[in-house]
Amino acid sequence: MNAESLYRFIFENVHDGVLLHDAKTLEVIDVNPRFCELYRVSREEILAFRPDSPGIVGPLSGLKRLTSSFEMAEEGRPQTFEWQVQGEDGSSLWVQINLRKESIDGRSCFLSVVRDISDRKRAERELKESEDRFRSALEGEIKKANEARRQSERLYRELVENANSIIMRRDPTGRISYFNEYAQKFFGFNAEEIIGRHVVGTIVPETDSAGQNLRGLIEAISNSPGKFATNENENTRKDGERVWISWTNKPIYNQDGVLREIVCVGNDATARKRLEERLRHAQKMEAVGTLAGGIAHDFNNILAVMIGNIELAADDASEETRHHLQQALNAGLRGRDTIRQILTFSRKGEQKVTVLHLIPLLKEMVRMLRASLVTTIELSLNARSDRDSIRADPTQIQQVIMNLCTNAKDAMPAGGLLEISLEERQLTALPDLGMKPGRYVALKVRDTGQGINETVKRRIFEPFFTTKEPGKGTGMGLALVYSIVRGLNGAVDVTSEPGKGSTFTIYLPSVQDRVSRRVPSSTAQLPLFRGCESILFVDDEENQVQTAKRTLQGLGYTVTALTNSTEALELFCRDPGGFDLVITDQVMPLMSGTTLAKHIHSVRPDMPIIVITGFSETVSLRTGHGHGIREFAMKPLVKRELAETIRRVLDQSHKPRSCEG
Ligand SMILES: Nc1ncnc2c1ncn2[C@@H]1O[C@H](COP(=O)(O)OP(=O)(O)OP(=O)(O)O)[C@@H](O)[C@H]1O
Ligand SMILES: [Mg+2]
Repeated sequence: MNAESLYRFIFENVHDGVLLHDAKTLEVIDVNPRFCELYRVSREEILAFRPDSPGIVGPLSGLKRLTSSFEMAEEGRPQTFEWQVQGEDGSSLWVQINLRKESIDGRSCFLSVVRDISDRKRAERELKESEDRFRSALEGEIKKANEARRQSERLYRELVENANSIIMRRDPTGRISYFNEYAQKFFGFNAEEIIGRHVVGTIVPETDSAGQNLRGLIEAISNSPGKFATNENENTRKDGERVWISWTNKPIYNQDGVLREIVCVGNDATARKRLEERLRHAQKMEAVGTLAGGIAHDFNNILAVMIGNIELAADDASEETRHHLQQALNAGLRGRDTIRQILTFSRKGEQKVTVLHLIPLLKEMVRMLRASLVTTIELSLNARSDRDSIRADPTQIQQVIMNLCTNAKDAMPAGGLLEISLEERQLTALPDLGMKPGRYVALKVRDTGQGINETVKRRIFEPFFTTKEPGKGTGMGLALVYSIVRGLNGAVDVTSEPGKGSTFTIYLPSVQDRVSRRVPSSTAQLPLFRGCESILFVDDEENQVQTAKRTLQGLGYTVTALTNSTEALELFCRDPGGFDLVITDQVMPLMSGTTLAKHIHSVRPDMPIIVITGFSETVSLRTGHGHGIREFAMKPLVKRELAETIRRVLDQSHKPRSCEG
């Protein structure tokens, strides 16, 4: 076989397609069968190919686009590239083309060797697809994991944001980097105000109320957080209010084991702390009471001897000596009063516990106080309930009220309002330890005086604590109030606004009325006050009128009782001198009691009148007296009280009537 036959044989049978172009015209010089097979065209079609012939279609159309490759091959740089051949039947084929310029028999030619790489391409595509599938599966997983993480973060954040606990993060120096919503509400700082600031100076005071260095404590926590997994300390709100917080501290370290931050979770422990404080206070008071009681007892005996002897000595003394002895006696008597307070405080004094109605007692005390108070202090009594029964020693309750009113008076040197009020309340949230839920009588003494600041307020119930100058106060008043009230299973509550005034509320267990009415009051054994005067009684309720008529007649009076106020006025006008006293209800349909009183006074200005009021009406005694009304009586009328009131009013009037004959 000659060389040419050999080459032709190879040319015809190689597994690669071979195409030979003229380098200038691009005319096809030769093509092998494999090429035709790959391109699915006949040899004739390919040989007829002209690059510039119009309507080139089919597999060779792409040749035009290969110009740049031809250009480079032209310059002597063989080109290898991949190419997708589209069959007219829609099939496609990937080939690798090796293009080079050759000179054959002096003619410049392009030799294209075309290899089918469809299998490789398919494998590549499949690999890519599988990779894509894997990637998207992986991405899906990552996405899911991210979503789960976000979800858990969101849950965590919601938990942290909505927790009913203070949650705060701070760096080791003490600078706050996170402050949850609860913390913001609790302390009164919003996030912008607190983030980046130091805990000391914002929510932690430099020192606590006991003087402990809190800055030092914060540093100690930073230095050894392990030792302070929990701690309890005083904190401050933005408005300055002190609160107690129970903290749990969790140190967070970075990879190198260096402390990065501390997560602090806090819960409000103020209420518990206050209760503990009160318990400690109660125990302290008890201890002081026992001690003071023992001393007071001895002192009382000493004083009795001193006072007795001073009085004896005064009898025979000269004028000048008597003056000095009188001074000594006065001091001795003052001492005795103080000792009496101390004895009551330590509960060593005598006690006569009975069921006691507070309203008559209060009225009596108001009368007394009115006489002793300067006119710049307005005194008012406001009973909002007729359930006023407690079980107590009247003398002790008098001491309680006197002490509270004296303090109120002292707090208002320039005058003001002193209001005593009474109501009955069902207590569930108890103001003090040792109290049981139930009905309590709340006795309030309110003043519009100087008020009490927080520091003083913490100590006012301590025996011998006073802010008054020496000789003015012993500091036993409130200690005594506290001791008496605690002894009756009650509580004392104080609210005060410096500069505006204070309110002391005494809670005492209420006693069922049914029981109390049967129990005689302290004066019940005394005979009732009687009289024979003529009384005009007006009340719109028939029942009331009948009962009152019988009661008053039982006391010896002549009674004209009417249910119609207009009729009563007409009757009075017909004979203004025929009556000695008018008693009228306040709330009546035709004319109120005070209006009736006004008309009666226009006819007879000196006519004594008693107006009966319900407990719901606020009675300002001062205003009442301004109308010329002698007295107000409160419903329900108690025989003994009514008898006393009538007698008092009649005896003060200008013409007391003689009952003889
Ligand atoms: N209504 C009030 N307004 C302002 N401060 C008050 C009031 N009540 C009490 N205080 C303060 O409480 C302190 C203690 O009161 P407390 O009645 O125990 O003693 P005192 O009045 O000073 O002396 P004492 O009552 O023994 O004569 C008072 O010194 C005063 O500072
Ligand atoms: Mg006092």
